[in-house]
Parts: sequence; C-alpha cells; structure tokens
Amino acid sequence: MLVLGIETSCDETAAALVTDKREICANVVLSQLDEHAPYGGIVPEIAARSHIEHLDGLIARAMKDAGATFGDLDGVAATAGPGLIGAVMVGLMTGKAVAGVHDLPFAAVNHLEGHALSARLGDADLEFPYLLLLISGGHCQLLLVEGVAKYKRLGTTIDDAAGEAFDKAAKLLGLGYPGGPAIERAAKGGDAARFDLPRPLKGRKGCDFSFSGLKTALLHKVQALEDGLDNTLRADLAASFQQAVADVVIDRCQNAIKSFRAAYPDGRFLVAGGGVVANSLLRARLKTLAEKSGLSLALPPLALCTDNAAMIAWAGIERLSLGLEEDLNAVPRARWPLDSTAAPPPGVGRAGKLGPKA
Ligand code: KG4
Ligand code: ZN
Repeated sequence: MLVLGIETSCDETAAALVTDKREICANVVLSQLDEHAPYGGIVPEIAARSHIEHLDGLIARAMKDAGATFGDLDGVAATAGPGLIGAVMVGLMTGKAVAGVHDLPFAAVNHLEGHALSARLGDADLEFPYLLLLISGGHCQLLLVEGVAKYKRLGTTIDDAAGEAFDKAAKLLGLGYPGGPAIERAAKGGDAARFDLPRPLKGRKGCDFSFSGLKTALLHKVQALEDGLDNTLRADLAASFQQAVADVVIDRCQNAIKSFRAAYPDGRFLVAGGGVVANSLLRARLKTLAEKSGLSLALPPLALCTDNAAMIAWAGIERLSLGLEEDLNAVPRARWPLDSTAAPPPGVGRAGKLGPKA
C-alpha cells in the first residue's frame, strides 16, 4: 500500500509517500520560519496563504522523489486538525481533491494521532498497548494507546505546552525561534545547577503538567541580572531551564507508568512523540527511566519528531488498513482531542472552551 500524506496544521508545509512496509519513499518539509520571523510569532493568515502557494509544488516534488505517479497511490491521508483552521483547510481540501479525482480511499488524520503512531513507523516490533508521552509545541499529554483510534488520556498541561515553554524561554533569552533547538544548543556547556528554578507539579499526584510558573521564574532570574545577559549566563540559564523541564516531564512519566502498569500489567513499551522529543537531554532521561522501569523505549527518529507528513501518511496507512476510511465530507477542526471522553485538567474550564489547545 502506497499512501500520500499531507500536513499543513501549523507552519510547516509537508508531503510524503510511505508504504505499509514502513518504507518512506519521499518526505519533504518546507518550513515557513522566515515568513513569520518579522512578526515574532506565527501569523495564521500568512501560514494558510503560504500553504496554498507551496503545497502543490511540494506534492509534485514528493511524487518525483518517490518515482511515483498518482496512479500508483493506494490512498491519501491529510491532517484534518487540530491546528490553525485556515492552515488545516488547505491540506485537507487538497487531500480530498487528490483522493476525489483519482478515486482513492481517504483518511482524515488527527495530527496528534500522527505523533502518537510515529514511533510505529520506525519500529515494526512496537505493539499496542503502550504508554505515550506526546510532547510538542502545542501539546503536552500522557496517554494510554490501546490501538489505532483508541486513546485514554492520563494527563495534560494545565497551561503551556512544553515546546511552547521552550519557545517562550528562548525568546526571553534572545535565542530566537524555534526555541527548543536554540535552548538545547545554548545549554551545551552551561551549568544546569547555577540557577534554582521551580519544578511545577513535581512530586504531586497525577499526570498533568504545568510550565507557565517555570517560564515566569526564568523571567524573574533574567530581570534580576544586574549587568544583563551575556553568553555564559545564557548558557547557564538555558541549561537550568532545560534541566527543570526534563525533571518535570520525568516525574510526570513516573506517575503515568504506575497507571499504565495498573491498566496493563504486561504492557512493555514507553513511547514518545512530538517536536520536543528531538531534545537529547529528554531522550537520555527517558532512556534511563525506561531502563529503571523495565520498559522498552521507542522514540521516533529525529526527522519524525517535529512536524512532517510521513507520520500523517503512516497514520493513514494504519487507519485504512483497519477500514477506517472517511468519505470526502471530513471537516477541518481547530480542536480535536485524541480522547474526547477525558475530563478537563484541574483549574481549566469546560473542555473545548477554555481548555488547552487540543
Ligand atoms: O511537533 P512539533 O513540530 O509541532 C507541534 O505539533 O507543535 O513541535 C514543535 C515544538 C517547538 O515548540 C520546538 O521548540 C520544539 O518542538 N522542539 C524542541 C526541540 N526541537 C523542537 N524542544 C526542545 N528541544 C529540541 N531539540
Ligand atoms: Zn506536531
């Protein structure tokens, strides 16, 4: 089965061709970073227009890279949410058009399901059920993954997502965007013990996350510097911040492992997905945690951590293989939780109204 995947939920335009034998025949990603940079953040209208401008060309490039024609395809998968609504619409409509014209099965993929299943694209031995840490720019959740389309949320962030916290911290330190890689680079050689930053929710029950207090604490440290920032201070602050985020994430994962064990005494895998999984400190800490807990760790390769269309094509393959085909009426969704039954986290209002982004 050869499936075309399309991803346009945020500021990356992406197209990929993937087979059910886990072969990535093409995987092209175009970042819009430069277009948004003058505005200091992502501008939804610019994102949507840029997707329109580039998506056709990117799909053509992916087809060429794979040496395939539309006639070779067995299906089309496109992200249908959650994300910037105008941006999502571009990829979803394009995917439907390709599927409609060529009379192909279509999968409307939840972007979070793309991240949730991405480790299975690289690892044929990774079986359900598994415990998933989904940690990206828009989301920070722990979930039991019981199968394709079967998710139980154990916890989520009550304020910022981890990637968002990295991005805000980097901005504060004058390190640019995206913040995660910038903080990681700056932290190399920095002293992670120099600044005493809080570990929100660490040691508390449950699997929810909170990062906004950490970001504010970092701001106060920067404001307290009498002579302003220099590169050594930047490195030490970045290292201290990165360490604090990793400590919080590992603490929350420890609690989630207990819930996973209670639900699935024979469950074997700890899995992570999303852009922040590209962070090497977090990867190392997750490895240690998995070893200590007697679980096997499955992490996507770096290229499949941040947003890409190969993970969308793969989620489409998983869905289409189970007969979870959509008609062409699938609608774009700005919010779309993986577990629609999950209660909102403490301190957050009605799900979908005041809740975090998914
Ligand atoms: O999964 P992703 O590409 O987009 C979303 O679905 O949100 O994640 C992007 C996020 C950004 O916040 C970025 O700063 C973060 O992932 N990120 C990292 C690293 N690489 C990307 N965070 C920490 N360390 C990294 N190396
Ligand atoms: Zn993502």
